[in-house]
Amino acid sequence: MPTERRATRRAPATAGTIGEAAECLRLGGLVAMPTETVYGLAADATSESAVARVYAAKGRPAFNPLIAHVAGVEAALEQARFDADAERLARAFWPGPLTLVLPVASTCRVSLLARAGLDSLALRAPDHPVARALIEAAGRPLAAPSANRSGHVSPTTADHVLADLDGRIDWILDAGPSRCGVESTIVACLGAGPALLRPGAIPEEAIEAALGRRLEKAAAEQGAPAAPGRLASHYAPRARLRLDAVAVGPDEAALDFGGVLAGAPSRIRLDLSPSGDLVEAAANLFAFLRALDETGALAIAAAPIPAHGLGAAINDRLRRAAAPKGL
Ligand code: TXA
Ligand code: MG
Repeated sequence: MPTERRATRRAPATAGTIGEAAECLRLGGLVAMPTETVYGLAADATSESAVARVYAAKGRPAFNPLIAHVAGVEAALEQARFDADAERLARAFWPGPLTLVLPVASTCRVSLLARAGLDSLALRAPDHPVARALIEAAGRPLAAPSANRSGHVSPTTADHVLADLDGRIDWILDAGPSRCGVESTIVACLGAGPALLRPGAIPEEAIEAALGRRLEKAAAEQGAPAAPGRLASHYAPRARLRLDAVAVGPDEAALDFGGVLAGAPSRIRLDLSPSGDLVEAAANLFAFLRALDETGALAIAAAPIPAHGLGAAINDRLRRAAAPKGL
């Protein structure tokens, strides 16, 4: 699949261009926005298809969960459940370069794809006037990974963003170099004690001082930035998943792609993309896996997915979901 080409508009961030970029976000577009840490590639976090375009533009071979950027604590409370530690940290460091990984709230509107199917959510209220104005004008949480191609370093200027993503995104709002230059510190508050998932712009000593206790370092002590799912496990369906299916058994539900299983006598069939569009398939992936699981089917037969474009990430996720449980 050729990656969708778009004319990328680069403009200094002003009230006018922020308004236009916010409108583009509401229509499902992609906007590189300055934050105090690094430039982020923003999309409407509530839209599965807008988020699918983010993964496609970055060329990510897997669906890493993304950070949802919000205006502040009030907006965040709608999306996730804060325990006392999480609330203390948010009030101490927001707006600012701290990301909190929390259990999703029942009122959460952030798409399953942005969460990589997980029941946890990463939230951050950035401390940059342009990012804040853009979130405000878009009127919804913005999912934003760093605005680089997969495998490259995070961009701290609009030129870096352009070098990686020109022609793949709609807008770059230029507000000069990022103040921090390193990504946000990520702390998980998922019921056990607060844990450092990624060291970042706020030193862990400052976080421990605000908490009045030590952070656990499950992932961070491995040295590398925390891979997703080190702490929170990957979403996996209860049903057994059979990959590259070209036929469907009598007790199987079908996860189709491009209609190849349409002729099979399956009770339940959901097609990720009848037209064979991998961006559409990515947008539907987690919701469809959950829907098929909820039917109570013991097994799901998944049609072959092409390996190019977002197909790599879809196949990666399907392979993980198909791996024997308990590993
Ligand atoms: O400073 C930053 O954090 C920048 C700016 C743009 O806000 N963003 C950023 O995003 O660095 P990204 O996608 O490059 O890194 C986000 C990290 C990933 O390593 C991801 O695995 C982790 O956050 N993450 C997101 N949601 C998670 C979750 N539910 N559980 C565990 N890790 C999560
Ligand atoms: Mg990144």
